[in-house]
Amino acid sequence: MLVLGIETSCDETAAAVVDDGGWVRSDVVRSQVALHAPYGGVVPELASRDHMRGVTLVIAEALRRAGIGWEGVDGIAVTARPGLSGALLVGTQVAKGLAWARDLPLVAVDHLVGHLLAVFLRRASEQPPLPLPSYPFVALLASGGHTAIYRVDGPALGSIHELGATRDDAAGEAFDKVAKAIGLGYPGGPIVDRLAAKGDASQFPIPLPMARADSLEFSFSGLKSQMARYIAEHGRPETEADTANLCAGFQRAVVTSLVSKTMRAARRENVRSVVLSGGVAANRELRRAAALACEQAGLALFVPPFASCTDNAAMIAYAGAQRLVRGERDDLGFSVATRTALTRVTRKGGGPRTAHLPGGTAAERK
Ligand code: KG4
Ligand code: ZN
Repeated sequence: MLVLGIETSCDETAAAVVDDGGWVRSDVVRSQVALHAPYGGVVPELASRDHMRGVTLVIAEALRRAGIGWEGVDGIAVTARPGLSGALLVGTQVAKGLAWARDLPLVAVDHLVGHLLAVFLRRASEQPPLPLPSYPFVALLASGGHTAIYRVDGPALGSIHELGATRDDAAGEAFDKVAKAIGLGYPGGPIVDRLAAKGDASQFPIPLPMARADSLEFSFSGLKSQMARYIAEHGRPETEADTANLCAGFQRAVVTSLVSKTMRAARRENVRSVVLSGGVAANRELRRAAALACEQAGLALFVPPFASCTDNAAMIAYAGAQRLVRGERDDLGFSVATRTALTRVTRKGGGPRTAHLPGGTAAERK
């Protein structure tokens, strides 16, 4: 089965053709980074308008690169949540129109499920082919909008359970905000990653956020404020070496927090495999630290290639294909939503931290 995926939830207009076994036939991403860069973050109205300009071109290009016409498409999958409402509406309305006009089955996909299943995408360019995990696994999803740890027992929404999430900012958001405070540009993650590689984290030690031993929750806003306070007191670093050390110290704190909680979750859930996903999984120190921690714990680590970590439509097509092959369809009346449909255990904001052992173990939940 060949599925056309469409993704417009944030600042990438993307379309891809993927088969139900995860083989990527085409994967087209039209980034809006240049459009939003002057504002230091995504401007929702600009995002929607640019999706309108690009979406049909991107879809046509995805079909062309896959070498198929409409007769080769067996179904359509589109991101319906979570994301910016206006942006999501562009992709879903186009998908509904195409499904109706071409009489094709349509499924709405949760963007986070797409990220969590991106590890199953297979690209002919990967030689030798990357190994694939088997269920169940524990996955860290760290992106610009979300940061959480999940237990994944299968591809369906009901088989994916949040174990803990950030109480405030997402990890990618922290990278972006700190880069902005240092004056590095947008999006900050890849820039901080590059600079941190040349820096020395020990020159700028930062206390770990939410280090409580039994917690699977994250907090990144304190870290961000700490960086902002440092810059307010000392000014922006003047030399490239100081900037690199600052980036390295910040990145070390984020990565240590992400990895230690993911490992804690894997131990608690008694799984053999750990998966990284979302844009922040492109971070090289995160990949290195997770590989080391998994090796020491005797666990297998699976990390998608860069193109599968950041926003793309191939992961949406694959997640949708898993529903379409089971005969599932959504009627054209579905709406978009700003929140994920996945179960959540972490409450955002302050208050007592009661969700540190959310829902008991997987065995207890069943
Ligand atoms: O998954 P994604 O493409 O979009 C969302 O769903 O949010 O993630 C984008 C986020 C941005 O915050 C970006 O700064 C971050 O991922 N990111 C990185 C790296 N590459 C992208 N963060 C740290 N290191 C990177 N190499
Ligand atoms: Zn994403």
